[in-house]
Amino acid sequence: MVSDSKSAASLKFNDMEVDLPVYSPNLGPDVLDIRKLYAQGDVFTYDPGFTSTASCESAITFIDGDKGELLYRGYPIDQLAEKSHFLEVCYLLLYGELPTAAQLDEFIPRVTRHTMLHEQIQYFFRGFRRDAHPMAIICGVQGAMSSFYHDSTDINDPWQREVASIRMIAKMPTIAAWAFKYSIGQPFIYPRNDLDYASNFLHMCFAVPAEEYIVDPIVSRAMDRIFTLHADHEQNASTSTVRLAGSSGANPFACIAAGIACLWGPAHGGANEAALNMLREIGTVDRIPEFIERAKDKDDPFRLMGFGHRVYKNFDPRAKVMKESADEVLDLMGIENNPTLQVAKELERIALSDPYFVERKLYPNVDFYSGIILDAIGFPTSMFTPIFALARTVGWIAQWKEMIADPTQKIGRPRQLYTGEKNRDYVDVENR
Ligand code: CMC
Repeated sequence: MVSDSKSAASLKFNDMEVDLPVYSPNLGPDVLDIRKLYAQGDVFTYDPGFTSTASCESAITFIDGDKGELLYRGYPIDQLAEKSHFLEVCYLLLYGELPTAAQLDEFIPRVTRHTMLHEQIQYFFRGFRRDAHPMAIICGVQGAMSSFYHDSTDINDPWQREVASIRMIAKMPTIAAWAFKYSIGQPFIYPRNDLDYASNFLHMCFAVPAEEYIVDPIVSRAMDRIFTLHADHEQNASTSTVRLAGSSGANPFACIAAGIACLWGPAHGGANEAALNMLREIGTVDRIPEFIERAKDKDDPFRLMGFGHRVYKNFDPRAKVMKESADEVLDLMGIENNPTLQVAKELERIALSDPYFVERKLYPNVDFYSGIILDAIGFPTSMFTPIFALARTVGWIAQWKEMIADPTQKIGRPRQLYTGEKNRDYVDVENR
């Protein structure tokens, strides 16, 4: 916990002067503590989109947007993507340290023993239209889980918080895979706990009861890496949503459903689906200039999907790993001259030499190349965001647990800059 301020900043306003404590985090810029500003100065701060506001203390993930650096518990994302695997990353995010061999041996079955869903949950799936977007299904089913696991919803009990956390990490692949199966009219495939996390997810997505399905280790490794790259990302919109929902003491399963809802939007997790749709719409390299011009036109709402980031202003380190992975996976899977990959690479090259994108520091983000890999694996675009949600679940949970255990935690309750009518008297309908 940050407890002592090293100095104070002074804010002069009207005839008042208010001292604000200044904290130095372990990494990143200093932080002014404005918590007492309203009480002492009768003034609010105004920061739509929270571009300059730290909403909490956190020891989980650090991003340096200028350097293009992403650390999980201090470990660089590229090292984790290359050397670690998703369940080890889950342990790291949840408990703060890489597990020993013995800890990992205990943790993996602890997760995999929770992969099955309560059998009754199947009926929730069957209530959806077949053409429902899988994000709608997983959001609904995740929310519905709050009515199934009553023995792990007391957020004041650390043991129940732990059980709820493990349940969600274990069950989310099953929920996402079944949302996919439901949308294509195939039978639900039950989890297999002898498979690793990524392989089990692929098995539940692509196996059918009529035939044996063998998971390709290349595909499984690529899938696992996608999970690792998406596992956490500091106080982004969906994580902040989970924290805000959780700050009222809400049911943990419902809090994660709130995160899923927020992730769905095209400015956030929905960008991976939108990015591949855009690359397909562009279709051929010769059409790229037309789309670049549209992205630059202020009268056109079109944006280059998979480009730009609120925090990264140099490059997105996840995109770098993802681009290498896309090359590797397509090569290993024997997919040559993938036209979408060609359009993506050329679009990146042209955009990065265009002053509009250079001046605004707009670079490809994680979503730009992930869709190409997921497409090659065989997923439809509608499954891209559910896969992001599956991977981000551990991050949401780690952040939620950190918040609940934080003694300074309060219900989230922002204020506003009111622009509505001043006091006025009610007018009877016949006099309006
Ligand atoms: N295409 C064209 N112009 C863009 C784009 C883009 N993708 N992104 C930002 N700009 C422009 C924007 O119009 C603005 O220009 P000006 O200064 O002339 O008004 C400037 O760049 C700054 O943009 P902003 O909207 O103020 O930046 P933001 O930090 O609020 O938005 C963003 C960040 C990610 C929402 C935005 O870049 C965007 O909409 N990108 C496309 C969607 C996308 O790929 N989202 C995935 C984010 S990474 C995965 C995740 O973590 O969710």
